Amino acid sequence: MNTLLLASALFAGLLGSLAAAPAPAPAPGPYHAFCRSLWLFATPCAEISTTLLQQITAFDTLVGCAECQYKLVAALPQSILANHTSPDGLQTETITFTFRPTALTGGCRVSGLSSSLGFTTLLDGGLNYCNLFNLLSASGLTSAPGYMEMTNEWACLGYGLATCKA
Ligand SMILES: *[C@@H]1O[C@H](CO)[C@@H](O)[C@H](O)[C@H]1NC(C)=O
Repeated sequence: MNTLLLASALFAGLLGSLAAAPAPAPAPGPYHAFCRSLWLFATPCAEISTTLLQQITAFDTLVGCAECQYKLVAALPQSILANHTSPDGLQTETITFTFRPTALTGGCRVSGLSSSLGFTTLLDGGLNYCNLFNLLSASGLTSAPGYMEMTNEWACLGYGLATCKA
């Protein structure tokens, strides 16, 4: 219940800040672009991590999808590490998902981080956000029970502007 209350508070704050400031202020680049996000699910972590792992493997063997170039680096009990190569083939981003059971509810709290290895300009076109979101969306996790996404433009570059293609 506490988690849900906190989640709704964060979510309301996020909507408020988006309404107040629709465009992120331009800042000087270059730097390492990244996106950090949290997701809540009503299903156990084992189920969520298995689904994500299967999706990374499925994308890895999929031919003809420029946005789907993922390589599994490690699957650990509480985290999954992967690499993603950008559609232009020139940039690599490292991806980490970490899974924590939610107390009492038997659900899962997933934190995700995608960060560009190279220096990029501030606007990554939502690349790092989409690296994470595409996996959740293609695997159907975005319509899983209890799904809730919590991030904002400070934690996740391009969030709110990104149109993810995969
Ligand atoms: C992931 O990316 C890192 C950094 O470029 C590289 O050292 C590593 O070999 C890559 N791993 C895989 C499995 O592609």
